[in-house]
Amino acid sequence: MASNELTDETPRGVRTIVVINRKGGAGKSTTIKALASAAAARGESVTVIDTDVSRSNYLWMEEATAKGLWADNIKAVPTTSLDQVIETIEKAARYQDQEHLILIDTFGGASPAYADILTIADFAIAPLIPDKDNFAETTETLAWYRRLADKLAAQGDRAAPLMVMLNMIQRQALQSATEQHFIERAFETMNMLSSFLGERAAYKEMTANGLLHKIAEGKSTKALASHVKRALIEATDLLNDIDATRMGLVLPEPQAEELETTHG
Ligand SMILES: Nc1ncnc2c1ncn2[C@@H]1O[C@H](COP(=O)(O)OP(=O)(O)OP(=O)(O)O)[C@@H](O)[C@H]1O
Ligand SMILES: [Mg+2]
Repeated sequence: MASNELTDETPRGVRTIVVINRKGGAGKSTTIKALASAAAARGESVTVIDTDVSRSNYLWMEEATAKGLWADNIKAVPTTSLDQVIETIEKAARYQDQEHLILIDTFGGASPAYADILTIADFAIAPLIPDKDNFAETTETLAWYRRLADKLAAQGDRAAPLMVMLNMIQRQALQSATEQHFIERAFETMNMLSSFLGERAAYKEMTANGLLHKIAEGKSTKALASHVKRALIEATDLLNDIDATRMGLVLPEPQAEELETTHG
């Protein structure tokens, strides 16, 4: 194994990832929950900072806890106060030897606080559903990001690097020409992560009920657990992709190589 390869043992430390896209329903909160599930399942501390006034991540935690589908190593903090966001991150950053994933969920609309959040975060992701509207709005989001990054650079600040992640991907045999067209255009014009999230019932179940690994544990049969486990593997591949990209490391072969045939 190459020494520049990301492995399960590679220390990842404390890092903050923010999910942005001004397009409503692009999958920001789903991406947050999938990454939170993946990190919690590998035993990391996870803090989800919910800056959406709807407090959907906080309610997710409350409801999942009541159902026994939550874990001790993850918490959701609802706040619309930038000071509290900074305080939460700074507190976690004191323990750099720990594996701690801090995730910031944002809402669709533009907010002046995004400038600050992007300077604090280590990495930013914009989920993209490959269709016409989402492509257009994500292109706008990227243009907005570029202007902001340039402005910050002029002040001597740095914006977290932003990469686009495909969401709601169908398995290849089921992809429409439109979907394929926008996937190709995304790779031609945007800074893309190679990992993606498929369209999966398991992600809807996650949003409705709780953490992926807890849902899988609670299933009565192997077959029922397996579609949730495949979603967890996909989310883990995404987390690994983000960490490897962030740390300049090589990503081993994704575990979800059989994804073509396994959407559930
Ligand atoms: N990969 C996926 N598989 C299945 N369903 C998905 C997936 N991604 C998103 N969805 C569904 O699409 C809807 C919108 O997703 P989500 O809430 O994550 O978007 P959002 O960007 O957070 O929206 P908002 O801008 O309103 O906060 C939800 O019902 C969610 O369950
Ligand atoms: Mg949301």
